[in-house]
Amino acid sequence: MAVDLRAVLLSAFDYKTEKYVIAKNKKVGILYRVIQLSLLGYIIGWVFLTKKGYQETEESIQSSVITKVKGVLLTNSSGTGPRLWGPEDYVIPQQGEDVLFITTNFIETPNQKLGYCAESFKVLDGRCRKNEDCPEGEAVVAGNGVRTGRCLKKDRNSTGTCEIYGWCPIEKSQRLIVPLLGKTENFTIYIKNFIRFPKFGFSKSNVLDTAGDSYLKTCLYDAIAHPYCPIFRLGDIVLRSGHDFQDMALLGGSIGILIEWHCDLDKGYSHCHPRYTFTRLDFNSTANSVSSGYNFRYAHYFKNPAGETHRTLLKVYGIRFDIQVHGRAGKFNIIPTIINIGSGLALMGAGSFFCDMVLLYMMKKSTLYRERKFEKANKYVI
Ligand SMILES: *[C@@H]1O[C@H](CO)[C@@H](O)[C@H](O)[C@H]1NC(C)=O
Repeated sequence: MAVDLRAVLLSAFDYKTEKYVIAKNKKVGILYRVIQLSLLGYIIGWVFLTKKGYQETEESIQSSVITKVKGVLLTNSSGTGPRLWGPEDYVIPQQGEDVLFITTNFIETPNQKLGYCAESFKVLDGRCRKNEDCPEGEAVVAGNGVRTGRCLKKDRNSTGTCEIYGWCPIEKSQRLIVPLLGKTENFTIYIKNFIRFPKFGFSKSNVLDTAGDSYLKTCLYDAIAHPYCPIFRLGDIVLRSGHDFQDMALLGGSIGILIEWHCDLDKGYSHCHPRYTFTRLDFNSTANSVSSGYNFRYAHYFKNPAGETHRTLLKVYGIRFDIQVHGRAGKFNIIPTIINIGSGLALMGAGSFFCDMVLLYMMKKSTLYRERKFEKANKYVI
């Protein structure tokens, strides 16, 4: 059969339009409108209004956190007498990072000197019954020093502990009853947070531009009264995480401070605000009291008038604050708008596809509609 090339070429420029069959069927008609309406509601209400489908979003946020703690207190320990604690003493590290430890309790062992003394009875590897149990020169596993070869016991038949060379006297274990630095509950932490959304070139800080110096000197964060004050009372932070400061201060713990920036940049600069949430991180319902808590040791070294080196050992308990910053910004952009409108229209098409299925295959008069919809062209007739 010869193909008429001219006819084929010309037909490429014909416009073909679809032919519709109107089914006078109220049930399917109502079903179609209901499907259309709910799809329209979904597209407008959820995709566009709730999820802001017309916006381009940026989830990676650049952020810098600077902290400063204020408050002083006086403790009176039996070892070294009165002691004044400033932020430079109880905040570790001192440079104001986004992870900071605040000392709330301590055990002090003053005036330790290198020498010979008995290992603590609590260290299992340090126990002995005879001198042979204490090989000279070997360190006690998880202990305080190096064995000297002597076993020190109260009497012949008891279990003693090895003599060690180390910092003596060794730390005495104590039962802690009250947090010695419990007054830190009323101390404040000033959190400065600078953020930037690089895609939009948008930057902001959590310190209000309108806030003067005097406001920052007197305000205290409160979720309702002062949501934009960047100064927090430590006791409030712990309270908002659902715990009691004094309970937590006894053995220490860890608190997460989350700063969330959800910014709709179409609404303008002043509508972009941080939201703070506080959670206790070292705590869950299955953990027992053995695993919760936070402590570590450090020492101050000094020379006495005779020139001998001494040190003061501190075992400190405290609360560690981890500040994390999350953020998301959105701004109108024509491309996501067109993509979402396009997928919305395609979804509307799904409605007529579903109604076609019902009409053509599930109704009593389906055969009738099928005959109307699918015309069989007979080539002999043509
Ligand atoms: C914190 O301050 C309040 C009011 O100034 C005071 O009543 C409370 O005893 C203080 N808390 C501690 C632990 O010192």
